[in-house]
Amino acid sequence: MPKNYMIGNWKMNQSLSDIQNFFSQLKLENNQNNFWITPQSVHISECLKHAPATGVLIGAQNCSHEDFGAFTGEIACRSLAEIGAHFTLIGHSERRSLYGETDQDVNQKAKKAISEGLIPVICVGETLAQRDNSQTLDVVLSQVKNALVNIQLHNESEIIIAYEPVWAIGTGKTATPQQAEEVHAQIRNLLIELYPDHGAEISLLYGGSVKPANIKELLSMQNINGGLVGGASLKPESFSDLCKAC
Ligand code: 13P
Repeated sequence: MPKNYMIGNWKMNQSLSDIQNFFSQLKLENNQNNFWITPQSVHISECLKHAPATGVLIGAQNCSHEDFGAFTGEIACRSLAEIGAHFTLIGHSERRSLYGETDQDVNQKAKKAISEGLIPVICVGETLAQRDNSQTLDVVLSQVKNALVNIQLHNESEIIIAYEPVWAIGTGKTATPQQAEEVHAQIRNLLIELYPDHGAEISLLYGGSVKPANIKELLSMQNINGGLVGGASLKPESFSDLCKAC
């Protein structure tokens, strides 16, 4: 069975006092290193001060595919690993749509993250127009395939895939568990084809308006192994509830 994860993506939110308050009020049960949070990069170190008491692991929202050098504003994977980050999101739809990240960028970043010991959480998902044109599976499967070009895996926990339909992000419109499972099942088949030894065990997360009220139903689906959560991860009570369901 793939491991279940609950990952809070704080995006460009949370002040220092919000962070202190969050960790002081977080109540997690049965934490098996599977509750993760990604704050703004400037707050990773602050989160790493508070997180050990709760067992939450901390990661980044983005990384560079370069080692080091003249890349103003970029964040090196090695630096993230050095300060204690555990993972990095890659190819979030906001990075793709607002900052022009391509499948090739996603592939290069994933390779660099793995080589520095970070777990890439590779995000994929279709827009509403693509869904309406019946392109969902084509788009999502090609995003997954392109992200994984020339990536060999030694075990199933080296990568995580997150399916986040763009039309469900921050809109309150969650995909139904059946809509999500339809896509997850196809991603699963592709992963088994690409990685016969590990594909069945790679964790597949769903994201897009996940909240305590809908997480149980989503997690009841065979190929949904957790959530990647924006808005509902910002408050300690709702993140605690999401983790409990996980
Ligand atoms: P919401 O949970 O706010 O819809 O955001 C989802 C998301 O983008 C997580 O990466």
